[in-house]
Amino acid sequence: MVKILLVGNGAREHAIADALARSTHDPKIYAAASDRNPGILRICEKTGGQIILGKPNDPKFVAETAQKISADLTFIGPEEPQFMGVADEVEKTGIPCIGAKKAPAEIEMSKAFMRRLMWKYNIPGRLRFMAFKNVEDAIAYINEYAESVALKPARQAGGKGVKVIADLQAYLQEEKAEVKRKHAQDIYQKHMQPYTDIEDRILIEQKVEGPEYTLQCFTDGKTVKTFPLVQDNKNAYAYDIGPETGGMGSIGGPGLTLPFINGEEYKQSAVIVEKVVKAIEKEVGQPYRGAIAGQMMLTALWGPTIIEFYSRFGDPEAVNVFPILETDLVDISEAIINGKLHKVNLKFRDTATVVKCVAPRGYPDRRDLAKGHPLSVDEAGIERRGAKVFYGSVDLQNGELVTGGSRAVEILAEADAIPEASEIAESCIECVKLKDNWNLFHRSDIGGETLLEKRIELAQLIREIYSYRKEKDLIGRQVDWIPGRGRIEYQA
Ligand code: GLY
Repeated sequence: MVKILLVGNGAREHAIADALARSTHDPKIYAAASDRNPGILRICEKTGGQIILGKPNDPKFVAETAQKISADLTFIGPEEPQFMGVADEVEKTGIPCIGAKKAPAEIEMSKAFMRRLMWKYNIPGRLRFMAFKNVEDAIAYINEYAESVALKPARQAGGKGVKVIADLQAYLQEEKAEVKRKHAQDIYQKHMQPYTDIEDRILIEQKVEGPEYTLQCFTDGKTVKTFPLVQDNKNAYAYDIGPETGGMGSIGGPGLTLPFINGEEYKQSAVIVEKVVKAIEKEVGQPYRGAIAGQMMLTALWGPTIIEFYSRFGDPEAVNVFPILETDLVDISEAIINGKLHKVNLKFRDTATVVKCVAPRGYPDRRDLAKGHPLSVDEAGIERRGAKVFYGSVDLQNGELVTGGSRAVEILAEADAIPEASEIAESCIECVKLKDNWNLFHRSDIGGETLLEKRIELAQLIREIYSYRKEKDLIGRQVDWIPGRGRIEYQA
């Protein structure tokens, strides 16, 4: 028997709990959670464990809980507990932990740390950036250099506050600069306001374009084992319209790649993650142990390019991959702890997967409106249609499911091809309802032929350009011509 304490209570953690429960090591699963996720609760009760309510971000609560239940290992799902040092505190008790410690987790927490690391260690897939500690310096930079940029909070802020601004027409430069200045102020005053654990406040990065994808991995610090690629869809509404969310649905497979990312690009993406894992150890003096994911984009500048790193699995991306993982997750966890990940062969069912997230109206901008609605889920109906439900932002209160303000459920469907899986997931949407007549929404386009074709066309165009640059030895190199200043070459 192996006792596992899982930290977190979203759909990602439901998928991890489900994979842990399939282990042949007689797992007993407990969860340190802020809410009673009905999927996780069922798994805990079935395996003889339980949910222990508290603050998953609180290192003391998690470490004491792990000790109280005499856990054999702790598995951290979300990023915030890592940023707060939960893994460090748990390991002080002698209980091993799958999840990055505070210092290595900076790869996700601080976007400036990540970018500096990539430049310092000469890692491919890096972008030009500037980090600012105050809004005045950011505005002075914006006034001086009007170009196409991505403006971001310098810390992981739950995916909020990122704005990409194309600044192509000279006659609109002042208007665009005003938008950038306003957004820099917004980042400083609004999005970064809750965070005091980081000095950098605003990040300005060069703008790039291309199809995005996520490469999720496990590492013991020496070996990186990669999962099948997944593409998340961040905009709230169909055809990439609307505000950015944590992800409204994701597609994967069949096999390790995606219809718009080829095997060579998959390998190059894995090399980038391997180089970053090594660089983190050199930089912080500790090995990186746990999950790491490259949130990537195929760009004309590099081919595979890093947009962000996650020190964890993505949500919903985890829901595409854990259900098709055939290797025992307890074996994988033990191999990570013992530094023997090179001995593990990660196997996956060869299938296409589509995840569709269903959220109450109000998400992501007015979570107060999306919160507190009674939810009904016809699980049997979803299974009959050939899919599976993973519970996200919901709480079981006195036998009633109540929405928490974010994505309430994630429906996973598998098939031979992505569009087929999408249709199955789509057919299940009617099984999820709010009992008080408040509306739910989802994206019906995710995994459909039209959106998939759009991604394939964009990838082909980008691939042609970066292949040409490679031929001409121009990969990662950028030359700008600034009127009145002349030629500026940025050597990667
Ligand atoms: N799906 C994006 C994230 O996990 O942050």
